[in-house]
Amino acid sequence: MPNEKPKFYLTTPIYYTNGLPHIGHTYTTVVADAIRRYKRMRGYEVVMTTGTDEHGVNVERAAQKAGLPESEFVAKMAIAWKALWDELGISADEFVRTTDLSHVRTVQWLFKRCKENGYVYKGHYTGQYCIYDNAFVSEAKPGDNCPDCGRPLETITEENYFFKLSAFQKPLLDFYKKNPSFIQPETRKNEIISFVEGGLKDLSITRTAIRWGIPVPGEEPHVFYVWFDALTAYLSAVGGPDYEKRGFWPCDLHLVGKDIIRFHTVYWPAFLMAAMLPVPKQVWVHGWFLMDAAKMSKSKGNVILPRPIANMLGMDALRYFVMREIVFGQDGNFSYDALVTRYNSDLANGLGNLASRTAAMIEKNFGGKIPKPGPRLPQDDALVKVTSETIEEALEKFENFEFARSLEAIWAAIAAADKYLTSEQPWALDDSEADTQRKATILWTTAELLRIVTVLAHPVLPDSTAKVWTLLGQPGRVAAFELDGLRWGQLAIGVQLGKAQALFPRVEKSEAIERIEAMANEELNPAPAAPAAAPAHATTASGAAAAPAPNEKIGIEDFAKVEMRVGQIKTAERIVGADKLLKLTVDIGTEIRQICAGIAQYYEPEKLIGRKVAVVVNLAPRKLRGVESNGMIVAASVGPEGRPVLAGFPDEDVEIGARLK
Ligand code: MSP
Repeated sequence: MPNEKPKFYLTTPIYYTNGLPHIGHTYTTVVADAIRRYKRMRGYEVVMTTGTDEHGVNVERAAQKAGLPESEFVAKMAIAWKALWDELGISADEFVRTTDLSHVRTVQWLFKRCKENGYVYKGHYTGQYCIYDNAFVSEAKPGDNCPDCGRPLETITEENYFFKLSAFQKPLLDFYKKNPSFIQPETRKNEIISFVEGGLKDLSITRTAIRWGIPVPGEEPHVFYVWFDALTAYLSAVGGPDYEKRGFWPCDLHLVGKDIIRFHTVYWPAFLMAAMLPVPKQVWVHGWFLMDAAKMSKSKGNVILPRPIANMLGMDALRYFVMREIVFGQDGNFSYDALVTRYNSDLANGLGNLASRTAAMIEKNFGGKIPKPGPRLPQDDALVKVTSETIEEALEKFENFEFARSLEAIWAAIAAADKYLTSEQPWALDDSEADTQRKATILWTTAELLRIVTVLAHPVLPDSTAKVWTLLGQPGRVAAFELDGLRWGQLAIGVQLGKAQALFPRVEKSEAIERIEAMANEELNPAPAAPAAAPAHATTASGAAAAPAPNEKIGIEDFAKVEMRVGQIKTAERIVGADKLLKLTVDIGTEIRQICAGIAQYYEPEKLIGRKVAVVVNLAPRKLRGVESNGMIVAASVGPEGRPVLAGFPDEDVEIGARLK
């Protein structure tokens, strides 16, 4: 009989469809994807599930706002979520939508089993309900705000089906005791144990006040409580009632954010116990990415989007950053500054530079063929030792979900290789036989270290490590390399290097951030369908590139949509951390506006004061490097580098506020 691979099943939460993914959602999904790739390299057959949570009042309201029937609205949103994950290269093996028929059937089946086993009864419930979090707040009084999101609670009385959660206090506590690694990290476990020890109240698991949900069979208008519905998605993804056939249940790992820990570690195991189904093996709780110490949310206007970052720096850079920057399990701040700094130091100057200089030296000295090493000196042995220890450490840390530590170990090996090259100076050796042999040893040793870090970093940096693998001319796919067999000395001799591909081109920090922010602005505030046309060869001085002039002609009514006026600059100052931007205040006749302009490299702020400029005054306000810009200064874009030259009025004493027509 062929050896069957062990199975590993992991999940991300399924995401609400009333919004689109930000960096917080991307974080969980990236981590799941990295674990999935890692487990595959460790010989497992892996299934990873993600999906969309499509029922509930919030979605109902969002659909109304969009003027669409709910089913159409959620279908559009699910496509958008899935497309983004595909675009970012983190597509899961299963994508569950809670409106899928197979999921609906699984929820109804789970309910039936809980009911048949005597854990469901009918009753009345009056309580304070948060429609945004889809949860009753048991300790709240009428008029209170939600303790989680701060929004006002609503008093709701309903006839509901109740789940006898109270019956599971002891079974849950016993379960936590018998399975000490069920909740990770440890601190979270203690929090949940004290919550359960404090007593569990029965939970209402159907609703009549909500229309948009999975119907309780034969009990309309009852629909299922969204969490009873959503949690079941993990099971419906791998077969639902037929879960035994696929063999992926119980789930090995649920990855969740700290806000949804109770649902996963108390309710979910209790539902499964009531239905006499196996309980998941582990729930790993991670922290949040914060913006200025607050959780990101669209309503606060502080969301960071993944796509602009991936467009500017590549998806691997984003993956590396989120897994390297914060300790898994704890909160951390997100900043573009830290992102680009890490990109330049660890990726461009670190892995990227080591790969390109090693390949270039092998090319130059050995015609692009991996040379046969000569005898080893003590300094070569030292690097071998570092690398072998790195294999052990990086794998051990990854296994314990200490991703930042694992990456730190890998990057320490990269730094050791850089140091080794600097001290051995293969470029200073000549073409004598002895020197050539020494060069061969140094370059083979460096390339072997590079091969090993490439394998180790693959789960986190799938694209770029695949490129380095090709560059090193190694056989097969790096994704298929078995981590258990990774050892020093496996780099094949005499193989021809593959084609060099750009890995991580260095970027200028402030320019990169400006471009990411401009793209994010555009995604968050898309331009209206009929954009105002910019005159040919004119550019905006606001830091964003002007749209190319369309080929077709526009009517005067289109031009009239752009309101341009004469403005006079009152103050001008540089913006800390944004080399290209100036913050200006401009008198436009009716008011003084704050406008950011991307002209700092060409105009001294002091010399601008009093100058009259052309201002687009009816442009929607937006933020550039965190500074509000309310309007746009018009400039010509000159030469290949697009030097901005301000449009002005030198001949005439024009009146401030006069319209340009
Ligand atoms: N639909 C529910 C989950 C149901 S699972 C059966 C839900 N959806 S969510 O879209 O609001 O959040 C999904 C996940 O994203 C949660 O784990 C949440 O913690 C995570 N994040 C949302 N914002 C986050 C950050 N700013 N940082 C890190 N993760 C955060 O809850």
